[in-house]
Amino acid sequence: MKKIVLTLFSIGILASPFAKADEGMWLPMLLKNNYAEMQRLGLKLTAEQLYDINTASLKDAIVWFNGGCTAEIVSDKGLLFTNHHCGYGAIANHSTPSDNILDNGFWAKSFSEEKENANMWASVLVRMEDVSDRVNKAIAGVEAKKVDSVRGVVFKAIQKEATEKTTYEATVKSFFKDNAYYLFVFEKFTDIRLVATPPQSIGKFGGDTDNWMWPRHTGDFSIFRIYANKDNKPATYSKDNVPYTPKKFLNVSIKGLQEGDYTMVYGFPGRTNRYETSMGIQTAIEKTNPATVDLRDIRLKAWKEEMTKSDSVRLLLSSRYASIANYWKYYIGQTEQLKRLKVLDEKQEMEKRFNQWAKNKPEYANILQHIQDAYIDYNKYALHRTYINEGVFGSAVAGYALRFGDLEKALKAEKPDTAAVNKAVRSLKKGVDDFYKTFNAVSEQKILASLAEMFYKNIPADQHPAYMAEILKKNKAKTTKETFEKFAETVFKKSMFIHKADVEKFLANPTLKALQKDPAYAYALAFYTNYTTNILPHLDAFATINTAEGTKYVKALMEMNPEKKFYPDANSTLRLTYGNVKAYSPKDAVEYKYFTTLSGVMAKENPDEFEFRVPARLKELYNKKDFGMYASKDGDINVGFITNNDITGGNSGSPVINGNGELVGLAFDGNWEAMSGDIYFDSKYKRTICVDVRYVLFMIDKFGGASNLISEMNIIKD
Ligand code: ARG
Repeated sequence: MKKIVLTLFSIGILASPFAKADEGMWLPMLLKNNYAEMQRLGLKLTAEQLYDINTASLKDAIVWFNGGCTAEIVSDKGLLFTNHHCGYGAIANHSTPSDNILDNGFWAKSFSEEKENANMWASVLVRMEDVSDRVNKAIAGVEAKKVDSVRGVVFKAIQKEATEKTTYEATVKSFFKDNAYYLFVFEKFTDIRLVATPPQSIGKFGGDTDNWMWPRHTGDFSIFRIYANKDNKPATYSKDNVPYTPKKFLNVSIKGLQEGDYTMVYGFPGRTNRYETSMGIQTAIEKTNPATVDLRDIRLKAWKEEMTKSDSVRLLLSSRYASIANYWKYYIGQTEQLKRLKVLDEKQEMEKRFNQWAKNKPEYANILQHIQDAYIDYNKYALHRTYINEGVFGSAVAGYALRFGDLEKALKAEKPDTAAVNKAVRSLKKGVDDFYKTFNAVSEQKILASLAEMFYKNIPADQHPAYMAEILKKNKAKTTKETFEKFAETVFKKSMFIHKADVEKFLANPTLKALQKDPAYAYALAFYTNYTTNILPHLDAFATINTAEGTKYVKALMEMNPEKKFYPDANSTLRLTYGNVKAYSPKDAVEYKYFTTLSGVMAKENPDEFEFRVPARLKELYNKKDFGMYASKDGDINVGFITNNDITGGNSGSPVINGNGELVGLAFDGNWEAMSGDIYFDSKYKRTICVDVRYVLFMIDKFGGASNLISEMNIIKD
């Protein structure tokens, strides 16, 4: 009896997004409810030292980095630590075969050597505020279809008021599936310079083979710096800008970690869907996840083939390859773990309990039924969306061509609208260099052929655009495969989008005729138009129901569990998760330690495998045991460690902070056994993979010889 009760209880906790010690991405403003527990786990700071808007607190050292990552300030000169994979694009962008910092690393020995980056930003949160009442009042009684636009208007008004007469930027975001709204005010810096990076054989050691997995030996860090104008305010790049003086920076502790030590991760987690229904999980497992993986496979294989042929192509495609490969493996892992952990069964169990509870509550009784009904239509079209995003527009030419849609509209206008044409041309001209910097025609021709063929085969014929028939007719060949190869060949022979010079020529004198007869443009537009006119209305209708019912569902879950503390899904806002350093057992009879070492890097070394090469300089340091003050007690170097903190994509680069508020590591990944984590938190398996800050400092100091950076930091020693 006791056992049964216990099991039911633990299922309830497992399947629900109402936290336990380690689970939860908490809004810093609301941490006070968790404070006692954080202290119990080992936190030594006051709640105000974590988050305060009047005096400097830890939050002032946490940076939202380019929207997809987190960074932290580690010196009074605006020095930033983030992951190597967060700096990857910038690092690759600065790399050429003759000055190859991606492969060789880069260590600025003075401010003047730091490298400028276009399109980078780093934002520090000034304050956040609950604006739920105001938003809710504005949308009360508004028809479901119009809620979005009405809400948009209030958001804008609030944002405007919050930033008036300041240099700040503001955003209002929805929480708990539209049950609460918070305003975030930021100071956004745009002169962000690259300071240092290890070679990718360290920063990406283990590559895609080890990605999303523990035990891990990756030195996943890179270093940037925020520059500001003379008044310490945000400014676009100028050589007169100076290093930013932050309100707060993190001290760095090299005292080391033990199992059970308190850790918290402060950062900007991007997206979780912990309140997802069983219906949503089923669609992901059966349809969209496997399709995403299959479609990405095509791109990865075609790129890899060309990347192994030449270094310049490898450098050109590295960053795109890494980002597609990262989530390709993510979806494989998510599907596998959702199945292994029987998440569908658990959710269905939980939904049964919910329905039981809601039975006599008219406002909640039919929520899940309504959602289930909406899925009947949605499931006919869910795959189409994936095939548009990852299929049709997985082709770089098609994606690029579609960007010319505004220009076509402007050129088509009844009365010639020179202003609109010029505006579109200006914006397109800005993107030309960037696009062709990472464009490889040989692989893209194969990609276009294969992806179009997959669309043809896997999307029901009644959902195809009429253009599909034209492709088939014009390129008739013995097999479907050859037909689509012929199609791609024609596109690559005739489209202006294949060559930068042709696009530049077109933009110098754009005509409607040239654009409309371009085969890449025609392809992109036909599939896109078919999608927006015939498919999207179904998806939108589903979203309206799923969102409105989802709002009620979360509200009801809170009522159903009044004693539980709830945390909202991740939405790229500042969160804190707390827990401890903790080992785990991935499967029966196997125990994983909580840390990895440099000896482990050497053990994985394989000079014949690109992903497992070890730079000569690191081997030399290892052989001489030249570890300085960064050595562990056993005379090794600690490389990675794991905690039970609750993170997701967007947390990449986040500081791992000890009970005294000092930096001990950088979070950079999740582990394979809990890849379902964005939908389902499993306390037994879910871990955060971090790089030990001692490895980072060892690299800077001993490997990179950048003692200039070491002396900028405040290092806490034994
Ligand atoms: N899985 C890591 C994350 O999403 C990214 C690791 C990048 N490395 C790679 N091999 N693609 O945060």
